[in-house]
Amino acid sequence: MNTRRRTQFYSAEVSVLRHSQARWWRRALGLHTAAVIQFSEDMRRTAEADGERGRAWLAALPGHIATISGAWSLTIGDVLDGGKGAYVARVRTGDGMPAVLKIAPPVPDFANQVRTIVAAEGHGYVRLYAYNLDHNAALMEPLGPTLVTVSPSVERSVDVLASMLRETWLVPASAATAVAAGNDKASQLIRLITNLWVELGEPCSRRLRDLAVRYAEQRAAAFDAGTSVVCHGDPHAGNALAVPAARSGAEAGFVFIDPDGFLCDREYDLGVVIRGWPEVLLASDDPVTQLRGYANRLAAATGVDDQVIWEWGFVERVSSGLFLQWKGHEGEGRTFLDSGEALLV
Ligand SMILES: Nc1ncnc2c1ncn2[C@@H]1O[C@H](COP(=O)(O)OP(=O)(O)O)[C@@H](O)[C@H]1O
Ligand SMILES: [Mg+2]
Repeated sequence: MNTRRRTQFYSAEVSVLRHSQARWWRRALGLHTAAVIQFSEDMRRTAEADGERGRAWLAALPGHIATISGAWSLTIGDVLDGGKGAYVARVRTGDGMPAVLKIAPPVPDFANQVRTIVAAEGHGYVRLYAYNLDHNAALMEPLGPTLVTVSPSVERSVDVLASMLRETWLVPASAATAVAAGNDKASQLIRLITNLWVELGEPCSRRLRDLAVRYAEQRAAAFDAGTSVVCHGDPHAGNALAVPAARSGAEAGFVFIDPDGFLCDREYDLGVVIRGWPEVLLASDDPVTQLRGYANRLAAATGVDDQVIWEWGFVERVSSGLFLQWKGHEGEGRTFLDSGEALLV
């Protein structure tokens, strides 16, 4: 789900800011940061789609940045885009070391993200320098470009992501919270798909929705906490970043950022991988064979079931399409849904 890069000045973009407030923030932030705060158009859209809560978070963001910059003695540098929800910027610490600061919107997942990265200790994941759950803030090692920008082909990306996931699945299951009855990932996605399909005015065919729900029901019935691993949850190529120097735990040359960190089967993460590149499927003469090929490739690299990967991939394609539309990313959501329709033969 990596997208066009566009960065806007917050003072021009956030209608909820009164001019006097903006001036106050600049003064307060002037102690530790550049004069204005920037963030991506994608981030603004996500916050706006969240209504009052999203706008309140945008309005509170300068305060979070000021508090965290002060507490951790940070100087804020360039803002990084590529994500959809969080504020992410290059920073320097008090002793001049480069780092990356992330401040996430108020979602419960952030604590799971931190727990997962801490437990991984750099294996398959970015290294964490500091975190503060009151402000949803994390200070991380600075990484290089995403796999999206450096990989020459889908096949190469699929191979790298499989190798990275083998590493991340070694995070001890105790790092994730227990799954309450009826709240496994597949059950959550059944609710999301059925609710959003109605709320968004039936944005894809009933056939596509029904097949996604049927696959999700099969995955829900098969859920087994005992054999689950801590899944990344969103291991797309935009969340895979190059490590600046070779190290143990990053044999593929990349590590993940931005995990959701919940218990599920390995095939779930691999289903997210094959959800990627919807535009490639849309341009294909035979999208089913092409996608089956990616699922087989991942199954061979990891020793899991290719049909289960296929089913998760289908559920993720439809749920992500609906979710993106709901969060204000209409065009990207449409591409996912259209790629799902192309798979109905
Ligand atoms: N440690 C890091 N080093 C370099 N760039 C990073 C780092 N963490 C995040 N980024 C950049 O910021 C973008 C958004 O970060 P991410 O954590 O994925 O946010 P979101 O939760 O909004 O998806 C990434 O796509 C990447 O370009
Ligand atoms: Mg991300």
